[in-house]
Amino acid sequence: MSDPGAAAAAQIIDGKVYAEGVRAEVAAEVTRLKSEHGLQPGLAVVLVGDDPASQIYVRSKGEQSLAAGMHSVTHRLPEATTQDELLRLVAELNADPAIHGILVQLPLPKHLDEKQVLAILDPEKDVDGLTMVNAGRLASGLPGLYPCTPLGSMILLREAVGELAGKRAVVVGRSMLVGRPIAQLLLQADCTVTIAHSRTGDLPAVCREAEILVAAVGRPRMIRGDWIRPGAAVIDVGINRVPFDDPEKAAQGKTKVVGDVHFKEAREVAGWITPVPGGVGLMTVAVLLQNTVTAAKRIAGVS
Ligand code: GUN
Repeated sequence: MSDPGAAAAAQIIDGKVYAEGVRAEVAAEVTRLKSEHGLQPGLAVVLVGDDPASQIYVRSKGEQSLAAGMHSVTHRLPEATTQDELLRLVAELNADPAIHGILVQLPLPKHLDEKQVLAILDPEKDVDGLTMVNAGRLASGLPGLYPCTPLGSMILLREAVGELAGKRAVVVGRSMLVGRPIAQLLLQADCTVTIAHSRTGDLPAVCREAEILVAAVGRPRMIRGDWIRPGAAVIDVGINRVPFDDPEKAAQGKTKVVGDVHFKEAREVAGWITPVPGGVGLMTVAVLLQNTVTAAKRIAGVS
């Protein structure tokens, strides 16, 4: 018999299921736009250098946009690309009528200035939601293109938790790509939001207040089981490569991907939890496709 005093294991939020749902909706909408309006949404992805993780993400973005029936181009530029060359390419893509979404994969090599690139990127094609215009629209509660991982996380949260209004949410991390925008989206959903970060005092106690806990710090398994309020919804945005626990595999240099949350401990306490891999990460590309369709419709002026 099970121990009646033991905490029930959390429900796992399966990103694969929801990402497939989003991709299917996108593919259906692309078919409709082509037949009713002669409009084929187009996505351009720019990768500078040969960071192995970025190469995998970029390949997946190209493949998935083609699978959804979209026009897709990937520009792979050498590490030695100059700032001027990169800016020229972005300007060309801004002016290309077949392209409705532009994504410059981050991080850029150190000699390139990301801010300058974002400053010239057309906000109407900014499917990453990283330009100042779109960040401002999000902060002001206006329609715009919002960052993909935060939007994907909100889809998962709504599926798991349902109504979010009035819930206490804690976001650990304040990056432009995830922490800040997800805090804004939670606020738009009428949550009471705390943004915690590396200088927050007594972080475990702050996390324990959260009915919704979003981990976006980039530190493997930092958030332990006893930091989590029983029954909380835990969204783990971390994607960290670590050596295998098995010393034999670790000695062979084999690595695996883990989140920012200590999954084994957390699932004993949380009400819902996203796994890594297989959670939020899968939503990011699906929402990127969705943002590209949104951008194409706005640019073409069709509903
Ligand atoms: N690098 C890791 N995640 C992302 C993302 O969502 N967008 C971009 N542009 N670069 C990334």
